[in-house]
Amino acid sequence: MALLEARGITKVYRLGQVDVAALRGVDLHVDAGEYVAIMGPSGSGKSTLMHILGCLDTATSGTYHLDGTDVSTLQGRPLARVRNQKVGFVFQTFNLMPRLNVEENIALPLQYRGGFSRRERRGRARTLLERLGLGHRIGHRPDQLSGGERQRVAIARALIGEPAILLVDEPTGNLDSTAGAEVLKTFREVHRSGNTIVLVTHDANVAAEAQRTVHIADGRVAA
Ligand SMILES: Nc1ncnc2c1ncn2[C@@H]1O[C@H](COP(=O)(O)OP(=O)(O)OP(=O)(O)O)[C@@H](O)[C@H]1O
Ligand SMILES: [Mg+2]
Repeated sequence: MALLEARGITKVYRLGQVDVAALRGVDLHVDAGEYVAIMGPSGSGKSTLMHILGCLDTATSGTYHLDGTDVSTLQGRPLARVRNQKVGFVFQTFNLMPRLNVEENIALPLQYRGGFSRRERRGRARTLLERLGLGHRIGHRPDQLSGGERQRVAIARALIGEPAILLVDEPTGNLDSTAGAEVLKTFREVHRSGNTIVLVTHDANVAAEAQRTVHIADGRVAA
């Protein structure tokens, strides 16, 4: 069953008088439970595509269905609602809140979403941290963690709302090989437990973790 179905996605950025065509008609189909890597040269449109798939941005044209919702017709608040409910993001730069400890960072998406008591948020955060082998770091602030631990906390934060899909952009780009391997192991476990993952990487070894790789070049899916 298609969890994600994008057809003919284009994205044109307007810079003053100049149009930059970042995506020129991308088709992508991802089934529930798949682990897909996206590779391509710098500037080929990978991050642009991830932003559209993750409902952070809208396409210039094309259609996009995510988990049964026609997202291409949405903007503003309705689009943000789909994003909050269905998408978990992991970025190269972790993007953790420096003043909050690990548990508070992880629970934040539930606070934004609303409808969870403090106790529920803490309970969920703790369970997830234990599962990812980070239980002993619960009270640490991000600057008291290794790079690999920071990224695993970011993965926990992405998962806490039980999203339909995990979208990941260069997760190991800021990590050495040992920390990168820890993070990849975490994605492997997350995938094994049933999550759908779409992961952008420059690294063929990282892409080899996925079940299949989609190559993007010059705003298009390469044959
Ligand atoms: N906000 C923006 N405004 C204008 N042009 C943009 C914007 N974001 C991206 N672009 C342009 O769109 C094209 C695709 O950029 P994108 O960031 O998607 O590439 P990428 O494949 O993720 O590259 P990298 O591997 O370096 O991260 C590039 O030409 C880029 O300069
Ligand atoms: Mg990018």
